[in-house]
Amino acid sequence: MKRGEDVIRYRQKMETKSFIIKENLHLTEKLYLLILEGSFSKSPVPGQFVHIKIEPFFLRRPFSIAFYQDNSLKILYRIVGRATEVLSMAEKGGLLSVIGPLGNGFPLNKKYRNIYLVGGGTGIAPLLFLTKHLSQQNCRITFFYGARTSQCIAFNILPYGINYVFSTDDGSYGYKGTVGDIMEHHIQRNDIPDVIYGGGPYGMLKQVAEIARRYRIPAFVSLENRMACGTGICYGCVTKIVNNKGRWVYKRVCKDGPVFSTKEVLWE
Ligand SMILES: Cc1cc2nc3c(=O)[nH]c(=O)nc-3n(C[C@H](O)[C@H](O)[C@H](O)COP(=O)(O)OP(=O)(O)OC[C@H]3O[C@@H](n4cnc5c(N)ncnc54)[C@H](O)[C@@H]3O)c2cc1C
Ligand code: FES
Repeated sequence: MKRGEDVIRYRQKMETKSFIIKENLHLTEKLYLLILEGSFSKSPVPGQFVHIKIEPFFLRRPFSIAFYQDNSLKILYRIVGRATEVLSMAEKGGLLSVIGPLGNGFPLNKKYRNIYLVGGGTGIAPLLFLTKHLSQQNCRITFFYGARTSQCIAFNILPYGINYVFSTDDGSYGYKGTVGDIMEHHIQRNDIPDVIYGGGPYGMLKQVAEIARRYRIPAFVSLENRMACGTGICYGCVTKIVNNKGRWVYKRVCKDGPVFSTKEVLWE
């Protein structure tokens, strides 16, 4: 019964919208910037995502909102498999069916003045949207951006007015090593942030969580578990979260997240 009710609620609440493809720009290597035009019934907040139908695939694919303003939605995506490959061939003027905004978003707090953003690969997407919000609040932002090589860095879409620190696995640009390592060097130089916001691969976020725990810094990260329904019904995206009794429970990344405090995630 509960499941049936969920489905009905889902159908009533989830608005599927048609967005027009304005641009589908090849940025670098396998990285693309998709610019869509369309409106949501509710304004998205940084950290939320959209679920996009890419024909002919049955399951929609989740993508973080990299920017949204005045009916213009930006998605930063990387070709990793079949659907993203098809998406890279989508042409200007075409229509895409979009559900969103979905998920919770990053918790914001005006008392956070010195802010670290740490992202790897397309995990920088939700952080780009976040920088737009934060830059209106007159706080100090340091953006740690990690990539495999210099070829994978999307320089031309990075907002101005922010202090960037780059790292690459092969040392072809910036610090050679993980983005977590370089972030920790900054902390060790006594630049202790009030908060860390992160997005990227699981291993990177796990390292960020460990550093945040060691230096007792609040940290919130956007998880990217594989998803099916994207709206809380199928429980296909669950992750282990430690509750206030110290026991772990399954939480849905699509509905209860995708942003979680690093303290509550059971990192495995
Ligand atoms: C909340 C959320 C936000 C996301 N935001 C973005 C974004 O802004 N930009 C972006 O490029 N991608 C993002 N992703 C990942 C994106 O959804 C997948 O890359 C996409 O669904 C892959 O589809 P595909 O058919 O091309 O690949 P598939 O054929 O489905 O998979 C190809 C390969 O990629 C791996 N893979 C697929 N999905 C994921 C995933 N979610 N996490 C880790 N590995 C995966 C598979 O294991 C496989 O090895 C996000 C995922 C989530 C859950
Ligand atoms: S993807 Fe179905 S519950 Fe999250």
